[in-house]
Amino acid sequence: MNRFVDRRIIITGGGSGIGQGTVLRLLAEGGRVHAIDVNADGLEVTRTMAAADGTADRLSVGPLDISNEHEVGAGVAAAIDELGGLEVLVNAAGILRAAHTHECTLDVWNQVIGINLTGTFLMTRAALPALLESGRGVIVNFSSTSASFAHPYMAAYAASKGGVDALTHTLAVEYSKQGLRAVAVAPGGITSGITETTPGMLPSDADWSLFTKMSPIIGKGMGSPADVAGVIAMLASDDGRYITATSVRIDGGAHG
Ligand SMILES: NC(=O)c1ccc[n+]([C@@H]2O[C@H](COP(=O)([O-])OP(=O)(O)OC[C@H]3O[C@@H](n4cnc5c(N)ncnc54)[C@H](O)[C@@H]3O)[C@@H](O)[C@H]2O)c1
Repeated sequence: MNRFVDRRIIITGGGSGIGQGTVLRLLAEGGRVHAIDVNADGLEVTRTMAAADGTADRLSVGPLDISNEHEVGAGVAAAIDELGGLEVLVNAAGILRAAHTHECTLDVWNQVIGINLTGTFLMTRAALPALLESGRGVIVNFSSTSASFAHPYMAAYAASKGGVDALTHTLAVEYSKQGLRAVAVAPGGITSGITETTPGMLPSDADWSLFTKMSPIIGKGMGSPADVAGVIAMLASDDGRYITATSVRIDGGAHG
């Protein structure tokens, strides 16, 4: 499939996990992609993977922190300049921190909200003029099953993702007449940098019986970044033209 041959795309979190998988998928479908991540080494890994796929000539990368207003403003402007416009923004960058809520420091709370929610807002605000100019802009934001189904010890994370859902819905309504679609994806357990480090973040006395509905009912264990990237490719392409103002759960049926 070549659904992105005439699409210019920015993807955050492109240096690891689902963001990286999405970069590779949209490149493979012909898109021109600018990948953003705070981790410059991760972006170089993505570049190497794209080179192995023979798609690196359509990939540019830019290290930046999406929670930094100045870096986002300058980085997004430069990326759009280089791409010559913008049709698709995928806001995949995010972090998870876990703690008993009564022990969660304000610093940790602010860090999670600052990256997952405020970072998504800053990227969106910077990209919106170009997305609207294209007349067929698409924003794919990253929610999580934690937004709708309680996950213990992840209050800041779940709250940030609930905020992303509300932000996405607002964008979809507010800019619908300018051809913009805004959708969220809500992955369940997907192998990635986040899920590799989650067990080490949970409180040592975590009560595992509180983690209900964690098991997918299809597949073998956790999903892969490619499982999510394929859905994003559908949503961001013309195949998703009748989908906006909603969140798509991708969890192997774990929360069904
Ligand atoms: N993996 C899962 O099970 C799962 C489930 C639900 C939602 N998600 C969401 O998927 C998205 C992708 O995460 P992932 O699971 O692939 O994890 P990941 O850790 O592999 O990838 C996240 C990427 O975001 C980057 N990042 C973090 N903070 C940043 C910042 N301030 N500026 C720029 N880049 C930053 C990281 O460097 C990393 O490369 C996240 O929004 C996450 O919340 C993941």
